[in-house]
Amino acid sequence: MIPEGNIEILIDEKTIASRVDEVADQINRHYGTSEVLLVCILKGAFIFAADLIRRITSPCTIDFMIVSSYGDEIETSGEIRIVKDLQKSIFRKKILIVEDIVDTGLTLDHLIKYLDSRGPDEIRICTLLNKKDARRVEVPVDFCAFEVGNDFVIGYGLDYSQYFRNLPYVGKMVSSGDSSDQTA
Ligand code: IMP
Repeated sequence: MIPEGNIEILIDEKTIASRVDEVADQINRHYGTSEVLLVCILKGAFIFAADLIRRITSPCTIDFMIVSSYGDEIETSGEIRIVKDLQKSIFRKKILIVEDIVDTGLTLDHLIKYLDSRGPDEIRICTLLNKKDARRVEVPVDFCAFEVGNDFVIGYGLDYSQYFRNLPYVGKMVSSGDSSDQTA
């Protein structure tokens, strides 16, 4: 069932686009002419990764992983499962994990340990959104587009019960009568 409620825009399309430019610049400066493998964490990071990779000037390839940490609820299940793994070896490669949001940090903590055991040269983290105050375990975030509060956010790839990934902005659900004029 489609979750009901109004949506308040937190980060609009234009702001996202210019910030993605800036983050890509930082990434390009970091890698220079070295090759990097972007590891896009599905499903939430697919839009961010698609926009980001088109601004990367360093030689790069991309692969995808599906890591399941949530059911259809907004609370973490605490269980992390690798549903789809990488296709090729990452031995001696530079890896850039591209995430939609770092919340408790449990997913990334698990993923970093999992990938690190395969002998990459370097693992860096790039996230669209960072919920610093929600951390249960510390993870090194190297590139971050936006810090956000503890609200459950949707849009630009992020879902609530699999819906709202198509929104071009990042927003939050608000109960009727509680929304500002920036609603959709
Ligand atoms: P963590 O393990 O708690 O850091 O959660 C990471 C994953 O939970 C993210 O990659 C998202 O898929 C999901 N998630 C966490 N917070 C939100 C949110 O506010 N909106 C949508 N998905 C979220």
